[in-house]
Amino acid sequence: MLTRPLPELPPIYFYDDRGSELFEAITRLEAYYPTRTELGILERSAAALVAEARPRRVVELGSGAGRKIRLLLDAWRAQPPLGGPRTCTMLDVNDLFLQQSVRSLAADYPEIEVDGVLGDFTTDLARLGPGGDRLTVFFAGTVGNLYPDERRAFFRAIAQGMEASDTLLLGVDLVKDVARLEAAYDDPEGVTAEFNRNALRVVNARFGADFAPDAFDHVAFFDRDHAWIELRLRASRAMRVRIPAIELDLDLAAGAEIRTEVSCKFTRASVEAAALEAGLGVDGWFTDPEQLFALALIRRRAA
Ligand SMILES: C[S@@+](CC[C@H](N)C(=O)[O-])C[C@H]1O[C@@H](n2cnc3c(N)ncnc32)[C@H](O)[C@@H]1O
Repeated sequence: MLTRPLPELPPIYFYDDRGSELFEAITRLEAYYPTRTELGILERSAAALVAEARPRRVVELGSGAGRKIRLLLDAWRAQPPLGGPRTCTMLDVNDLFLQQSVRSLAADYPEIEVDGVLGDFTTDLARLGPGGDRLTVFFAGTVGNLYPDERRAFFRAIAQGMEASDTLLLGVDLVKDVARLEAAYDDPEGVTAEFNRNALRVVNARFGADFAPDAFDHVAFFDRDHAWIELRLRASRAMRVRIPAIELDLDLAAGAEIRTEVSCKFTRASVEAAALEAGLGVDGWFTDPEQLFALALIRRRAA
């Protein structure tokens, strides 16, 4: 990926312990509306969502600090049980955040069996076992970090593991005013810039590379054609980067850019189209008064 005309790094490299902490700091920024908006939607709609889904099992993909799931679990435990144990499984690539969130959820929800799967939601969905009365939640608009072909594969994999009684609750950031979108990814405090540069630190640690993160500037812009925010790192000077683990010497000219993330923005129609391609349908659409963000409740379409 680094040898492409526009070199790329997959966004999974943001998330070592420092990256996960930086993401948490981003969620508290004034300009970063998605987290508080999604929390607001959950506060208003968790009871209706859980009543609609009627799960025995809840799974969160890319669970991070596991804050939002608490609103669903609160609503879940307020509803009459369906019988049998209630379980909640958190799946994330970051072990520290996974262990911490599993521990604190298990302590605060003793009547729910909580466990964690250290894994990748693009390759490890089968590790979650067969479906049936399962509510899978994927918050934060993280689905938007998948490129369209990866997103299609993700929806297919989700659909494959889904029974008629299963639901997917998908958080999506909505297309909106460009200035507002771009401001959310380019805060004056520079937290998103640090998060972006952290991908280079992770590549250095994992692959023995010698990127100098401070020699890269943070770039964030909305690409209207693709309806996505793109994050890049721009080399402030010419440099050669050694990546011994893949035997690569990467020559970057001053101004050369590396794409580190896309964050696709959706409309109800584009979510419906993506779901439909995989044989899924949007059954419920929960949004905020400004239509900044939405939670789509998705099921298998009747054959
Ligand atoms: C944008 S954060 C969202 C965290 C949390 N769900 C929330 O709503 O605040 C994305 C989370 O997904 C995890 N993640 C990113 N790529 C992943 C992948 N391919 N497989 C599993 N987890 C991943 C990160 O470690 C991080 O915790």
